[in-house]
Amino acid sequence: MTSLPLIIELTYIFSAILFIIGIKMLGSMVTARRGNMISSVGMLIAIAATLCNSGLHFKFIIIGIVVGTIIGIVTAKTVAMTSMPEMVALFNGSGGIASLFVGWAEFHTKTNTIPSSVLLAIVLTVTIGGITFSGSIIAFGKLAEKLPGKPILLPGQNVFNAILVLVVLVIGCLFCFSTSYIAHYQLFIAIIVIALILGVLGVIPIGGADMPVVISLLNSYSGLAACAAGFVILNKVLIVSGALVGASGIILTSVMCKAMNRSLTNVLFSGFGAGTKTKGKESHGEVKPISTDDAYLILEAATSVVITPGYGMAVAQAQHIVNELGQLLEENGCEVKYAIHPVAGRMPGHMNVLLAEANVSYDQLVEPDDVNPIMETVDICMVIGANDVVNPSARNDESSPIYGMPIINVDKAKTVFVLKRSMASGFAGITNPLFYGENTRMLFGDAKASVSALVGEFKT
Ligand code: TAP
Repeated sequence: MTSLPLIIELTYIFSAILFIIGIKMLGSMVTARRGNMISSVGMLIAIAATLCNSGLHFKFIIIGIVVGTIIGIVTAKTVAMTSMPEMVALFNGSGGIASLFVGWAEFHTKTNTIPSSVLLAIVLTVTIGGITFSGSIIAFGKLAEKLPGKPILLPGQNVFNAILVLVVLVIGCLFCFSTSYIAHYQLFIAIIVIALILGVLGVIPIGGADMPVVISLLNSYSGLAACAAGFVILNKVLIVSGALVGASGIILTSVMCKAMNRSLTNVLFSGFGAGTKTKGKESHGEVKPISTDDAYLILEAATSVVITPGYGMAVAQAQHIVNELGQLLEENGCEVKYAIHPVAGRMPGHMNVLLAEANVSYDQLVEPDDVNPIMETVDICMVIGANDVVNPSARNDESSPIYGMPIINVDKAKTVFVLKRSMASGFAGITNPLFYGENTRMLFGDAKASVSALVGEFKT
């Protein structure tokens, strides 16, 4: 007969396989939903196996699953799509504090016999868990506008943080090699307190708009804390899942930084948004506004249109009416594509989520690398509430703070319509020469109102 530990080990391997398949499927919008479901099933199996193995009565396992499922469904259904980063921040914080508690509990149960290697794993668990918890709470506060979104930069803050990191390293070493229980406990509490302070001080100098990058990084930390906790309690599936979260979080962070042409150090330590950055060259030239009537006439004659949405489309909640316009254009015999920049909007996949909500077909979404080479053949590029991600200064102006950032080359289309309310700048706070381009027409107004007016023209 097969023994229980073997069944548990096999279950863990099966769960780990489901996690990996799920993460792979998250790489494409078409399979992402199923991938999420497969990973969730893997997690359910792993948790149930762990609880069975610990001898917990089935009754408690079922109660836990039911309560957790209800809370999960209610939160997922009620949270607005735009509040998703806040929710992820809370999830990361919960992961961090859970790992911290695991490390703390294990310290109590094993302290007399504990080898230095396990003590090291405990130090890593509570340090990373503590930083993740307090950092995530500050990130949540900034995103939910319960705390000021502006970066709070105190004099010598980075040096002070570096000293705290050194102190935690020294205390961690003392903790691993100390033999006295009393000294052990005092050092342990000191590590937790410093980790919590480090989380707060690490996130406070970062501006609210950079929070999605920070949340992705904290997500990676929560994975590392869980991985370390897995070493503490010798749970293989926790080690694997923690490592997967840690690695995927850091990959997402680096993709976001690359797409913004910023280094992680710049995001974490520069206080971007505090008003100290260079602005690049001023843009000059004539701004050519267009009315919806005239825009409609040009659109009606177009055979190819590329819609490039940005943060303004999210603000205006124009995604549904944009989809309607896209369908009317297609019925009129025009080819319609949606060009999606990886950091358009304010959270990873922001535009994808909005367009999916409006039922835009996945086949119509194109990435900058695919659409840029054919941009010169496009009749009309409609820029809907995007600014930085279509700013040609990123290509042409070496003094611009976004110089080198990959953009969507909408300025190369035959005609560009820019839908925005004013000449105001976007997130980077810089002027955009696109608005003065020979082939650019500015359709001023709220994106939803402007697109609704165009839809109205098509329908009459
Ligand atoms: P932005 O450059 O921020 O520009 C958005 C534009 O939308 C503004 O210029 C604004 O102009 C317009 N707008 C606002 N409300 C509008 C409305 N109701 N109707 C029409 N237009 C409206 O947006 P983007 O091009 O999407 O670029 C994103 C920026 O955020 C990048 O700099 C990126 O690095 C940064 N960022 C992104 C992320 C992620 S993960 N996506 C994370 C952190 C930072 P008006 O006020 O004149 O209307």
